[in-house]
Order: sequence, then structure tokens, then C-alpha cells
Amino acid sequence: MAFPQSFLDELIARNDIVDVVSSYVQLQRKGGNLFGLCPFHSEKTGSFSVSPDKQIYYCFGCKKGGGVVNFIMDIENLPFPDAVRFLAKRAGMEVPEEEGDREAGRRRQRLLDLNRDAARFYYQLLQQPEGRAVREYLDRRQIKKATAVKFGMGASPDAWDVLLTAMTKKGYTKSELLQAGLVVQNKNGGLYDKFRNRLMLPVIDTRGDVVAFGSRVLDKSEPKYMNSSETPVYSKRRVLYGLNLAKKTKRPNIILCEGNLDIVTLHQAGFDNAVASMGTALTVEQTRLLSRFTKELVLCYDNDNAGKIATERALQILNGSEFSVKVLQLPRRRTADGELVKQDADDFIKNQGPDAFERLLNGSENGVEFRMSQVAGKYDFTSDESRVAYCEEISNLLASLPGAVEREIYTVRAAETAGTSPDAMKLEVQRAFKRRVAKEKRAELRKDLNPAAQLQPRERALRYENIRSARAEEGVLRLLTLDESVFPPESPLREEQFSSPLLGKAYSLLWQAKCEGRSPTVSCLTGHLSGEEIAHITAICQQPESAQNAAQALADYIRIIQAEADKRAGGAAIDPLLAAVEKNKDKKGTGGKH
Ligand code: GTP
Ligand code: MN
Repeated sequence: MAFPQSFLDELIARNDIVDVVSSYVQLQRKGGNLFGLCPFHSEKTGSFSVSPDKQIYYCFGCKKGGGVVNFIMDIENLPFPDAVRFLAKRAGMEVPEEEGDREAGRRRQRLLDLNRDAARFYYQLLQQPEGRAVREYLDRRQIKKATAVKFGMGASPDAWDVLLTAMTKKGYTKSELLQAGLVVQNKNGGLYDKFRNRLMLPVIDTRGDVVAFGSRVLDKSEPKYMNSSETPVYSKRRVLYGLNLAKKTKRPNIILCEGNLDIVTLHQAGFDNAVASMGTALTVEQTRLLSRFTKELVLCYDNDNAGKIATERALQILNGSEFSVKVLQLPRRRTADGELVKQDADDFIKNQGPDAFERLLNGSENGVEFRMSQVAGKYDFTSDESRVAYCEEISNLLASLPGAVEREIYTVRAAETAGTSPDAMKLEVQRAFKRRVAKEKRAELRKDLNPAAQLQPRERALRYENIRSARAEEGVLRLLTLDESVFPPESPLREEQFSSPLLGKAYSLLWQAKCEGRSPTVSCLTGHLSGEEIAHITAICQQPESAQNAAQALADYIRIIQAEADKRAGGAAIDPLLAAVEKNKDKKGTGGKH
């Protein structure tokens, strides 16, 4: 991972932060800085700033910040080395790969090649006599050949080592087959195919690489689905089944379902915007991935308890995100015996047809409506007591809605549900709203009464031990990035004099850059500190600091830091003495009590 410093410097110099950010955010100049709407949280007025001089970005709202590499890490959801490669490509630079990296890259590519070869192998078996059982299964599920081809479906035969033999013949090693999760080892060390007698569903990422497999049994046996385990090329948190196809949709949104075969049926029925997370609740990583392709999501989870919990969880993750979210509720179906059963998207399309699904999609409730109907479902409106309880719970929900118009509209609707007058419901909501505001005020007040807490970094892991010294340390960092010429040629401070290890480390890195003739900027920290740490340093460096009194300010800061450091050192020296005195006092105290 260690790229040469000279390469990183050139990379940062060749990727001007204003240019890079401008391809994601519309920026407007205000004084020396540029401002725009933050791409990392939803907002209506721009609190996202970019400083061309310091080559940093910083959001006053969500406090994200850093240099150009951090920006790409955040916005493209990439780890550091990949963000560096991304920017190198952008600037037309060649990346000096380390031997270790090159080796890891080769191994990853081997696994991807193996997955692709395995997918081809299963795919062509589907047309062979061995694939007959799977072909018949596809017929039963009404999956057309063209659809199966589009999804690259295949058949794993009812045998123990067909894939093992075929892939070994192609030159893949046993260890590679194990790593890809395509074969398993028994107690005696023997290897056998993991997937047998199953419909194979290759999982293809948005780059078009086969990263894993899902698979389904052909009968009622267990486990119904068997998916690849996590491998060096597959993390289920970061992948959505079907997104390789759905990313090309012309529809305005993306539908999220639970089951792999729901996706297949939906695509076949013309809903080429459907994706599924494979056996996990929606993750933050997946929402970031989705945000590259759409701004509107439709949740279409099963209409049972598990599905409702999954919907609520997804709504929580998406709350306050840039997405607009709708919930498509699939109606239950009455069986011949009069029993109400859940249907998933696949059942629904088969029972009711694509047009009916299109109507559901158009009439989907938004997140608020969904939550309101969830609350309503808990109460029996024939009992007065229950209606009162409903009003109380629903008014809390309504009071939490951010927009006044939104609150008003849904308040009227809740009144209809409860069978009360809109005015009475409005009063309830106003009271709940006041309670909420009062609670927030109390919390705010507690914070005001404790100013030290306000000065602390938001990240718990970065807490300062000594606020007085830390403030001065922050000032030194700010001055060093603002105007290095006020510093003497020799470092006036040592890293261990800093009370905050993070600030000390940042100082050393900046000073080192200065000594090497580079300009000490936040970008110098890239690759040495974590994203959160860099965001914290960025926050410090963008605070105002007068350049006019810089020399005096620096002297004051240094005096404070040294005094506090001396106190710590001195404190250590007198500690044993103090402890002895305390001990004596204690003895007397307890002696008196007995
Ligand atoms: P069928 O219509 O019965 O083929 O299934 P489905 O596609 O509707 O899927 P279901 O709603 O039963 O499950 C949703 C998703 O959860 C599946 O697509 C799988 O990814 C995952 N899943 C379901 N059952 C299992 C299982 O037994 N093991 C594992 N690992 N995952 C499962
Ligand atoms: Mn199903």
C-alpha cells in the first residue's frame, strides 16, 4: 500500500481539488473559497466548502473534510489505494505498484478469472444432458431461456467433483478453488464441489466481474439457497444482485427486493430496475453504491414480519439520505381455502401480471405513509381507549417530520384514521412537537453548561486529555498550514510535548513535509492518518486564524504547550509525594470513623 511520497505529491498536485470536486458538486465562489451542496448529507443551503489555497474540502454541516484523496475515498466509496489509482487514472499517471501489491492484485485477478471460468462451465452445462433437471426447474418457474442467458444462469450437476476436475485441468490450484469458495474440504482433507445439483446464479458486480455465486435447490430440500462465502473478491455488504443490469435501466428508480428469483422475474416482466441484497439487510455500503445510479429507491420487501422489519431498518438507514424512498407493499393473497398468504414480487407478477405490478409501483406509499400504516395496524379503532393511545403514538411520529406542510397533511390524514377532528389531532401534534423541542433545548443547555465537552472533537476516539494545551496545539497546526514562514528553521516543538497524540503526529508529518521542501498541507497527511483523523485536522485548519499576528500567536501557543507539558512532567515527579500525603489523610479519615 505504501506509494512513494514523491508519487503521491505529484498525484495531488496534478489533481486540483476544485476540478475534482466540481465534477460531483456545483461550486460557487464566495470570497477565497468555493461553496456548494454537501454530497455527503442532504441539505438545502450549501455548507460544503472547498479551499483552492489549502487544497482541502470541509463541510460545516456533517464535518467531513480532507484533501483530494479523502474526497475520492468518501464519494466513490473506495479504500485508500483504490482512490489513489482512481486519481492516477484521471491525471493519466502510471501507478508505481509495490511487489506485494502487484502480487495481491494478481491473486485477486486469478480468483476473478476462476469465477468467470466456473460461471462459463455451469452455463454450458445447462444446455447439456447434465443440465436437464435445472432446465426443467426453470420451466416450472416460467423463466425463459433469454432471461436465463441474460443472468448467465447455469447448472451444477449432481456429482461431487465435476467442477474441481474441470478447473484443475484449466490450471487452477486447489488453494485457489478453496479461496474462491467453489470447493470445500472434508475432514480427511479431500476436496469436493460446494455446489451440486443446483440452479447457479452468478453474482456480477457493476464492473462486470463474476464475484460470487448464489444457488437454489431444485426441490423443497434445505438449505434452499446456498451462496458463496465471503472471499477476497466478494463481500456481500458491498454487492447487490442484479445491479450489473439494473444500472442500465431507463426507469427513474431502483426497486429493492429480498429474493434473487424475484429479481429474475421482475426483469423478465420489464422491470429491469430491480436488485436484491443477498440475505442481508440493506447496508450503508449498498446505499452508497446505489447512489451512483439513482436518487429514488422503492422498497419491495415481503409482506410478512421479517419483511416489515427489513423495511423499517432500510428506512432508518435511508432517513436523512439524499434518496427519496417509497415503499411498495405487496398485498396478501387469499388461497382456495380462504387463507391469507404473503406473496413476494415473483408470486405477485405470476398471479396478477406486470400491469398490476406497475400500478402498485406508481401508487407506492412514501416512507411516512408506510410508517403511519404500521402504527395504525397496532390499534383497534372500535375501542376509545385504543384510539386515544393511537393518537398519542401517531402524534409523536408526526411531530418528528421535518417539514411543516408535511406535518399538516399527515396530521389531517391521521385524524381521519382515528375518527377525531383535525383540530384535536393538530393540538396533539403541537404538544408532541413542543415536548420534542423542549427536550432538545434541555440537551442543548446541558451542552452549554459543559463548555469543555463542546471543545472536544466529535469522534470519541480522538478525545483530548488537556483542552488548554490541545487548543494551542491546534493553533500551531493551523499556522503551519497557513504560513510556514513564521516558523523558525528548527522545529520549536517535539512531538511528545503535544498532549494529543493525533495532533502531535500531524505536526511531525507536516514538519517533515516542510523539511523536505514540500508545502505542509492537509494532503501531506493522506495515507498516514485515518479518514476520521484527517477530517478532524481539516476542521482545525479551516478555522479562522489571523495571518497578521501570526508570529505573536505562535509564540503564545508554544508557551502554553511547553507549560502544560512541563506540568505533566513535573506532575509525574511530585506524584509520589502527593500520593503519600493523600494516603496519610485517608488513614486519619477512616480511623476517625471506626
Ligand atoms: P424462491 O422464490 O422460493 O426461490 O425464493 P426467493 O427468491 O423468493 O427467496 P426468499 O424470499 O426465500 O429468500 C430471500 C433471499 O434470502 C434469497 O434470495 C437468498 O439470497 C436468501 N436466502 C433464502 N434462504 C436461504 C438459505 O437457506 N440460505 C442462505 N444462505 N440464504 C438464503
Ligand atoms: Mn419467491
